[in-house]
Amino acid sequence: MAGERPSWVPSEVDVERPSAARMYDYFLGGAHNFAVDRQMADQVIATFPGTRRFAQLNRSFLRWSVRLLLDSGVRQFIDLGSGIPTVGNVHETAQRIDPTARVVYVDNDPVAYAHSRSILAQDAQAAVVKADLRDVDAVLTDPAVVDLLDLDQPVGLLTVAVLHFIPDTDDPAATLARYHDAVAPGSHLVISHALAEPVQEGEPEDERATTVKKVYSRSATPLTLRTEEQIARLFGGFAIIDPPGLVNAGLFSGGDLYDGPDPDWAPGAVGVGRKA
Ligand SMILES: C[S@@+](CC[C@H](N)C(=O)[O-])C[C@H]1O[C@@H](n2cnc3c(N)ncnc32)[C@H](O)[C@@H]1O
Repeated sequence: MAGERPSWVPSEVDVERPSAARMYDYFLGGAHNFAVDRQMADQVIATFPGTRRFAQLNRSFLRWSVRLLLDSGVRQFIDLGSGIPTVGNVHETAQRIDPTARVVYVDNDPVAYAHSRSILAQDAQAAVVKADLRDVDAVLTDPAVVDLLDLDQPVGLLTVAVLHFIPDTDDPAATLARYHDAVAPGSHLVISHALAEPVQEGEPEDERATTVKKVYSRSATPLTLRTEEQIARLFGGFAIIDPPGLVNAGLFSGGDLYDGPDPDWAPGAVGVGRKA
């Protein structure tokens, strides 16, 4: 319904403008979204019927990667573009394995921030920062990061379904390189990214990609789809761990790496890199 304004909505939120965070909440079956988000999200689903499945696979991959990093000795995480909290958040997954694990969530969406703050109020080892991940200094010098994390120890940097909201003109590889330089050896970078089919020179772009980009251009965060090769370059100095390598998100199911012969294809690529 246009004009709806539930009590949990922070005052600065424009309920008439779609938000990527709230659209994603809708894909996952959450309740923190408005009519305008649902309308836009339904257009994305009509174009890519696998979108909801991709969102779930993405969450499976996120949980899998947190467990992988814990196995590799990482005990602290910065979740960049963490979203509106949903089932299986990073601090829950991590603290189930190691109750001392620390997590800082970062998001620039006011609903994601407000809801994260309320669920983390009682957790002394997790916090949320309202910041733009492109502002690396603001993130890394925020009191939550300084108080909770030790950047001289390995950090898990999570960029899950967020880098496709950073346009090429803002050079996401350069942003990630700054995080790379700020974290200790043994730190990891996790990426999940919406995929573009490679386009031959002179050929038109996939019509569905054009449609979905048009939908997101109405939100505060336009969409940039990237090919596997472009996504691989975002890892920069973080060497991609192989196996599994940079793979299709469809390989992740129920929180595990799917090892059957015929995984679902999903419009996203996922991978984990490590700083030597
Ligand atoms: C699709 S959601 C993904 C949420 C979560 N990472 C997951 O995979 O389940 C993308 C999130 O990134 C946030 N986001 C987009 N651009 C951002 C930026 N420049 N800085 C911080 N957060 C950003 C959005 O607000 C949204 O909450």
